[in-house]
Amino acid sequence: EKGGYDHFMLKEIYEQPSVIKDTYRGRLHADKGIVQMAGVEDNLEKFTNANRILIIACGTSWHAGLVAEYVIEEFARIPVEVEYASEFRYRNPIIYPDDVVIAVSQSGETADTLAAIKLAKEKGAFVFGVCNVVGSSISRETHAGAYTHAGPEIGVASTKAFTTQITVLTMIALRLAKAKGTMNNSDYQRYLLELELIPEKVEEALQTNEVAKTIAGIYKDAPNCLYLGRGYNFPVALEGALKLKEISYIHAEGYPAAEMKHGPIALIDEHMPIVVIAPKQNHYDKVVSNIQEIKARSGKIIAVVTKGDTQVRALADHVIEIPDTSEALTPLLTTIPLQLLSYHIAVMRECNVDQPRNLAKSVTVE
Ligand code: F6R
Repeated sequence: EKGGYDHFMLKEIYEQPSVIKDTYRGRLHADKGIVQMAGVEDNLEKFTNANRILIIACGTSWHAGLVAEYVIEEFARIPVEVEYASEFRYRNPIIYPDDVVIAVSQSGETADTLAAIKLAKEKGAFVFGVCNVVGSSISRETHAGAYTHAGPEIGVASTKAFTTQITVLTMIALRLAKAKGTMNNSDYQRYLLELELIPEKVEEALQTNEVAKTIAGIYKDAPNCLYLGRGYNFPVALEGALKLKEISYIHAEGYPAAEMKHGPIALIDEHMPIVVIAPKQNHYDKVVSNIQEIKARSGKIIAVVTKGDTQVRALADHVIEIPDTSEALTPLLTTIPLQLLSYHIAVMRECNVDQPRNLAKSVTVE
């Protein structure tokens, strides 16, 4: 049932090229310039008339929501706020009737997300679900939705659900950009083509497995680890850190790279591994100067870079290369080596990768 892999998590990491394709199949037609999902088409006016989009979710799904905040605002120019479902529901939130709420949940059963949806509905918002489990409570409770087609995710640590959520949310952003005329046609076409190429680029990113394993062997006993990223890859830094903590029990924190000097820099010494997400777009020069600041304090740099990079390579202790793609799609690639790194560290520490202590696959209590 693990398909020859040692763990469900590894199997699910390797399924990402095919499940991302399953998720856009029938919805994305780059040759015709079309992105369409029935749930969005049927409610297109609600989306295009929205003054604001609120994304509510927990955990990894909340991280996918954060990526979507950057993508939707850039493509469709609609303000987006991303909320932890648990905070949203207990705050008497302000919700306007022309708000669109997008609830993101792999399981479709997360208690806080479900309660937040009910509250948003009571206040008159249109609620759209992005779920992986067909017929789940959240998919039934929302007005409309679009499923991710990740297939069953057994490993407690979410992997393929995350990248398929980003795929759906990016398709929504593209559809809204087209409807609102907020993106020029050549950028729109380029993004459709690039999204279609993502599965094969994820396949290529999976070839970082060996280097990720080697790096894992060097840092497996580190007590702490920092993850830094900017822009579209700031949420990936958060997700990378969450993956490491939940399966290897190493304390890890993700930060927007520029926030480093506002506190976390105090932690840096020769014992601190710092994973820096530094694709050639995404404020590359700024990230390079962050790397220089870390090296000046003897921190150990593990950098995720675009294939062919030389500038970061010259500074970093280790580099992991991923293929080039359009800026807003880089999270779909930078995530992959971080999943592999956490996986190998957890295996080397003899942790229960698929069922980490204290965690449940779906959190149906608040
Ligand atoms: C982390 C993880 C959790 C879930 C969170 C939300 O790897 O799996 O953080 O992402 O519990 O779950 P869903 O998406 O099912 O609502």
